Order: sequence, then C-alpha cells, then structure tokens
Amino acid sequence: MINVATIKNAREQINNWKKQGLTIGLVPTMGFLHKGHISLIEKAKMENDRVVVSIFLNPIQFSPNEDYEKYPKDIKKDVQMCENAKTDMVFCPTVSEMYQTKNLAYINVNELSNNLCGAKRQGHFKGVCTVVAKLFNILTPNKAYFGQKDAQQLILIKKMAEDLNFNIEIVACPIVREKDGLAMSSRNSYLSKEQRQSAIILYKSLEKAKTLLESGQQNADIIIKEITKEINKEPLARIDYVEIVDQTNLQKVNEINMQVIVALAVFIGKVRLIDNIFFKEINR
Ligand code: PAJ
Repeated sequence: MINVATIKNAREQINNWKKQGLTIGLVPTMGFLHKGHISLIEKAKMENDRVVVSIFLNPIQFSPNEDYEKYPKDIKKDVQMCENAKTDMVFCPTVSEMYQTKNLAYINVNELSNNLCGAKRQGHFKGVCTVVAKLFNILTPNKAYFGQKDAQQLILIKKMAEDLNFNIEIVACPIVREKDGLAMSSRNSYLSKEQRQSAIILYKSLEKAKTLLESGQQNADIIIKEITKEINKEPLARIDYVEIVDQTNLQKVNEINMQVIVALAVFIGKVRLIDNIFFKEINR
C-alpha cells in the first residue's frame, strides 16, 4: 500500500494509474476507522481497479464549540486497517497541506444544507462540501463512496457533483451496525459504558418507526411522536431533532407517500449521535 501525505505525490500516483487505464475509487474519511468505513473500502474494491482512502480530519467542518480538538485519532491503526482491506493508497495530508493559504473559496449547496444537521451545525456542510470537492479535484476518482449513515451529507454531495459537473459517480453504502443495532461511528468511542447502553435507543426508536411505516402509517406527525416518546423513556437521551424528509429534496413531509428518510440526532450525555432509515417500500 502506498502512503502519501502531499498533493503532489498523490497526483503523480493517480496520473500513473490513469495512464495505465485503471479506474479509481475514493473513500473519504476523517480517520479512527471502524467496520462502517471498511465496508465502503470493500465496495470500492469490488468496483474499481484501484482504491484510495483519504484520512483527513477536516477542521473547517467543525464549529468552534464542537469536538475538532478531541476527535479520536489512531493513524497507525487506520493505516493498518486500510492495508488489511487491500487499499492501494492512503492519502493522509496535514491541515497546512490541504489549506496552504487562507482559504477563500468555499462550496455551498443551498437549501439542502439548511435543515436537519445543517440547522444545528452552522457551516458544517460548507466545510464538508469544500473538502470533498478538493479531494475530488486532487484525486479525480471515477467513483466515490459515502455512507447512508450521514444521509444529508450523501444527498448534498450527490447534488454538488451533479451541479458542478464532477465526472464522478457517487455511490451510497448501507449503514453498518453493532450487534445490538447501534450505528457504528468514530464518536461512539466517547460513550461511557452506561451511555453506550442508552445509545441503543436511537436504533430502537427507528425500528418502531419502521414497523409503523410498514403497517401503512402515512402520517409523519404520528410517527415522529412515537419516536419522541420512545427516546424520552431513556433518561440519558436528549433529542436534538427527529424529522421525516423527502429523500430527494430533504424537505419535511406531512403525508408519507414518497420515499423518505426518518432522521434523528440525539445527545447521550454530551455525545451527539445521528442515525436514520431510508424508507423505500411504498407500494400503494
Ligand atoms: P467520517 O465520519 O470518517 O465518515 C467517512 C465515511 O464513512 C462517510 O461517508 C460516512 O457516511 C461513512 N460511515 C460512517 N459510519 C458508517 C457506518 N456505520 N456505516 C456505513 N458508513 C459509515 O463523513 C465524514 O467522515 C466526513 O464528513 C468526510 C466526508 C470525510 C469529509 O470530511
């Protein structure tokens, strides 16, 4: 596995592969890898000749009151996990390599970044879209892999690629969960033992929503109320938001007669976790 830290070296390697007619799959990450990240690498591996994983904790997607400083890191383990998953190249730039001068150009995907996490984390998606666009320009992959775990991010990136004519296919990958249903996340490492137990409530409440949807419940308010009731039974949990939105434009829906995402963000103590389900089986 090739390990590069500079944009120049990454470009040289990519050009080399392109000259040989090889296709490239990119998996962008912020490190502290887990099985969710690995599932993206495995999918990329199946669909491309070469796979690049970027590991970059992107400061501009965190606001000052967030966890940039204490975000978990273990670069040695990350590199080993990439190697085990048969990654061809890891790209691990420093902050000064990625943002060499004062950055003045940013990417905003309007409307789609105003609600859900976008409403709660000011400037977050501007930071995400900007770094992903930079990675796309540096690494010029044929395909790039994103998890449905970050549903709003996935939909925003798809729209950005479409609107800005990136010649890159955005591939959506399903959420990988722990045995008890908790969605894997680098931030789960913040949870104490007791909090870890409480965190199952996110998945439990989504399962409840799924049962209601499958039984034909079409009223979004009723489903949201049920989820809220379920989460509020858990003393350590505090709801940040619970919403049901249209999969294409992320707008709130009242009557569920289209493909929707049931999305939630919940604080367990001080740890903010997100989870969602994409509900597609509408056959009426
Ligand atoms: P990070 O949180 O490290 O996630 C990297 C990718 O892994 C994202 O596409 C995310 O949706 C996916 N992922 C995380 N947990 C997952 C799970 N349990 N199952 C499946 N996929 C999962 O998302 C980011 O980094 C950053 O915002 C980034 C896109 C790299 C830009 O900085």
